Amino acid sequence: MAIVTSKEMFERAYQGGYAIGAFNVNNMEIIQGITEAAKELNSPLILQVSAGARKYANHTYLMKLIEAAIIETNLPICVHLDHGDSFELCKSCIDGGFSSVMIDGSHLSYDENVKLTRQVVEYAHDHGVVVEGELGRLAGIEDAVNVSDKDASYTDPDQVQDFVSRTGVDSLAIAIGTSHGAYKFKPGSKPQLRFDILEEVEKRLPGFPIVLHGASSVIPEFVEIINQYGGKMPDAIGIPEHMLRQAAKMAVCKINIDSDLRLAMTASIRKYMAENPSHFDPRQYLKPARDAIKKMVEHKISNVLGSDGKA
Ligand code: G3H
Ligand code: 13P
Ligand code: ZN
Repeated sequence: MAIVTSKEMFERAYQGGYAIGAFNVNNMEIIQGITEAAKELNSPLILQVSAGARKYANHTYLMKLIEAAIIETNLPICVHLDHGDSFELCKSCIDGGFSSVMIDGSHLSYDENVKLTRQVVEYAHDHGVVVEGELGRLAGIEDAVNVSDKDASYTDPDQVQDFVSRTGVDSLAIAIGTSHGAYKFKPGSKPQLRFDILEEVEKRLPGFPIVLHGASSVIPEFVEIINQYGGKMPDAIGIPEHMLRQAAKMAVCKINIDSDLRLAMTASIRKYMAENPSHFDPRQYLKPARDAIKKMVEHKISNVLGSDGKA
């Protein structure tokens, strides 16, 4: 099996009422945990790499680790640039073997977003690579960028048809109330998503794949373990799983998950270190951390995404 684009994955997911998990990868254990889970459940997969991940682990290391995972699992895996912020970054990932890129022009004016996205689409499509664009702006923290609630904005359904036809994007990320990071809703408030906006988008773009960023559930069990073993994560609230399931049954074909991976790994390592204070071999604490990621991803695939058995 080679690296694939998300085109066929999304067509089948749209028809089948499920979504593909797009998991952020930064090192070998994360890649192994995710891909072992997908193999066990025969699920298609998107592995996504942020600019920060490329800076941390290096493009070539990540590509080679993903290629190794494809050999080991024989699964269709799409390799995607998460939150590309310039033509040059997208080009570098396309030239470096990614099958999908996101150009995130959501911080630009509408016309500038269209222009930049169109430029990336032209280059990507010439090279057999698919493109995700974004309309609307999520709150939360991505790498060094912190978007405050007041700067965040929901997607305007009246813009989506024009944006898709003028840019030629293959999928579209929209803002309906999800946000990046572990603190998605105000303490004490009830999590809510604007399914009315998703419905309106779906009506205007029938059959077109929609993407949800900021879709970690901030699994309470991990936050509890982190706090039990010396961490301090007050009022971390994520997207309830039943809402993600509902979105996956609608036009949402790609669900982005990073924070839950971070929490699974950190909870496992904190617990291991506290219970084994004399251990210092990284393999001793990274093995349970990798297993924790695998278990969490299996849960997402079976109970949230519904992509099990669809590879
Ligand atoms: O949405 C952003 C992802 O969680 C990636 O985070 O930029 O810190 O790698 P990062
Ligand atoms: P979370 O922070 O909710 O995991 O979102 C990740 C994401 O959207 C990556 O692009
Ligand atoms: Zn994101």
